[in-house]
Amino acid sequence: MVQGRHILLIIGGGIAAFKALDLIRRLRERGARVTPVMTRAAHEFVTPLSVSALAGTKVFSELFDLTAESEMGHIELSRAADLVVVAPATADLMAKMAGGQADDLASTVLMATDKRVLIAPAMNVRMWLHPACQRNLAVLQSDGILTVGPNDGDMACGEHGPGRMSEPLEIVAAISSALAGGPLDGRHVLVTSGPTHEPIDPVRYIANRSSGAQGAALAAALLALGARVTFVTGPARVAPPLGAEVVRVETAQQMLEAVQSALPADVAVFAAAVGDWRVAQPSAQKLKKTGSGLPQLEFHENPDILATVAQMTEGRPGLVVGFAAETETVTEHAKSKRARKGCDWIVANDVSPETGIMGGTENAVTLITAEGVEDWPRMGKDAVAQRLAQRIAGALAH
Ligand code: CTP
Repeated sequence: MVQGRHILLIIGGGIAAFKALDLIRRLRERGARVTPVMTRAAHEFVTPLSVSALAGTKVFSELFDLTAESEMGHIELSRAADLVVVAPATADLMAKMAGGQADDLASTVLMATDKRVLIAPAMNVRMWLHPACQRNLAVLQSDGILTVGPNDGDMACGEHGPGRMSEPLEIVAAISSALAGGPLDGRHVLVTSGPTHEPIDPVRYIANRSSGAQGAALAAALLALGARVTFVTGPARVAPPLGAEVVRVETAQQMLEAVQSALPADVAVFAAAVGDWRVAQPSAQKLKKTGSGLPQLEFHENPDILATVAQMTEGRPGLVVGFAAETETVTEHAKSKRARKGCDWIVANDVSPETGIMGGTENAVTLITAEGVEDWPRMGKDAVAQRLAQRIAGALAH
């Protein structure tokens, strides 16, 4: 359903821009409001006059258009819509999005938005299949950006293959499902991610090698299925996905507090690599080499966030999922971890250095539930995330 919804439509500069005119018409027929933004290159393919006539509103093109800035700044433009749609998404626009560039209105709006973004790629088949474009696509998907198409077929340039922009009605269908959410529509999922930093003094801390990649991929996959996601993250290398409500923390204690204040949730997934110990009394000043021996650090055990939530007697999320980072006898350790902590599922992985999993892009997991043990083949962290998100949606549907 697009009735009454507000779409910010970014039209890129490609031959498929002419289809954006029909897309606007189809959206408006169905009761959507469309605010068009055109890149400079898009003006070469369709005129702002026709776009504006079909949209029934002004077209935005210039970043430094002072009248528009005073009427509606690019920040507001990026936030006022329910969904941002890029059609056609050219190779250049995708590269800009993947690289985080913001040198014109369209790319700045895409950087500033806190809304979900759907792209309809359109380009020559060789450009689409080029490793750089495929790399950018993977980055965008892991950022939580939704895609529709491209389709296979004859192209305006005379070649044949994938690269044709989806037809306007296919894009309308993708917009409807992005707005309607998916199987997790209306569900609140809490995800913890990344490492924690446990201070020793104002400049030193104890950390671990977690990049936050698996947690971010999982949050993106859950968002793609329509969930509302609260993403509580330690200082991770990987950026949180668009559309999640992000709570940034440093220490395990802060993570516990953030988790508790984010509840209630239908599902809680604990992908963070939480530091098990903290320095009992971090020094207020930088520790100095005194010449009279080494500093003696006393440790306290951190709260176990997963166990605390899994063992809640009131308001426990319906499904509590933990991860288990092991370096030996993975399944056995993970099984006993599941029982000890009281969670419903454990996603176990072998983080021995030779697996390259911790801090890497792939994962090989074993899912342990009350029903038994499943070994999943080694795959990208995005693929693990999508499979796990589907399982979560399936479990809630029962
Ligand atoms: N976890 C947590 N709070 C902690 C420690 C761990 O929430 N203080 C969660 C992790 O997010 C993960 C699960 O517990 O979902 C297991 O983490 P892991 O590091 O594998 O286990 P530990 O509990 O730290 O046990 P050990 O170090 O003995 O393997």
